[in-house]
Amino acid sequence: MNNQERYELLLDSNLLRDNEDQIVGAYIIFKDVTNLRSLEAQVQRSDRLAMIGQIAAGTAHEIRNPLTSIKGFLQVLKKTFESKDMAKEQGYIDVMLDEINRVNELVNEFLLLGKPKNVLLQKIDVSTVIKGILPIINNEAILHKVHMNYEESSGLPPVIADQELLKQVFLNICKNGIEALTDGGTLTIVERLDPDGRFVNIEVHDTGPGIPVYVIDKIFDPFFTTKEEGTGLGLSVCQRIIHDMGGHIRVSSKGYGTTFTVSIPCT
Ligand SMILES: Nc1ncnc2c1ncn2[C@@H]1O[C@H](COP(=O)(O)OP(=O)(O)O)[C@@H](O)[C@H]1O
Ligand SMILES: [Mg+2]
Repeated sequence: MNNQERYELLLDSNLLRDNEDQIVGAYIIFKDVTNLRSLEAQVQRSDRLAMIGQIAAGTAHEIRNPLTSIKGFLQVLKKTFESKDMAKEQGYIDVMLDEINRVNELVNEFLLLGKPKNVLLQKIDVSTVIKGILPIINNEAILHKVHMNYEESSGLPPVIADQELLKQVFLNICKNGIEALTDGGTLTIVERLDPDGRFVNIEVHDTGPGIPVYVIDKIFDPFFTTKEEGTGLGLSVCQRIIHDMGGHIRVSSKGYGTTFTVSIPCT
């Protein structure tokens, strides 16, 4: 189309005849099925997501149990090494415990990808939630030489959400933003009421390189990552959490910089 947008059309054509069966013309009907097609794709995608979620959550349980016993025995071993003054061996145990904690964190993300645990929907103040995790984000920002901006907005209505899950969403999105700012830059968090008054919008903007068009459709897919050490689970978990609260996440990235907008219901 002239406006550079892509449409999917269903085309139907036939001849037109008069009473004597003489051909008097023809018709072609173009029907715009763009919405129908994208709806189909959406349903397929959420089916696939649900399946991946179930598998991941099932596997995660199986991994967590042996991990717990390995961790327990390692802690016992560490005590033994301590009592025998075996510093080098104690160091090895520390490394192993660290690695186990990393696996545990990953497993926890898997579990969230499946059915979320008891979600506690409450009236909460978004600014309080953000201020609660600001020190963590600030730390991460300083570590990556990133400048951090938080524009608190007063007089926002409370949102209806799960506080702990919401923290996780903001942490994930801010972490991505900071990771995109490899040469420094600015991460900005802005809060505002959606024009229609039904959502509170949290915008997380970074001045990073942006997301290429061929990547942007995939970033919410589980296990999609462009990072060497990435899990590709961050955004899919965020998406799941926000959807369960009746909200949505949008991303816009044109040229330089990226903005993630998290909309949380407030009525
Ligand atoms: N702020 C951002 N700027 C650029 N790319 C981003 C940004 N946020 C997410 N992405 C892209 O989305 C991908 C998926 O993100 P995520 O699901 O959090 O997984 P991970 O961070 O483990 O790669 C990232 O690998 C990256 O390519
Ligand atoms: Mg991430």
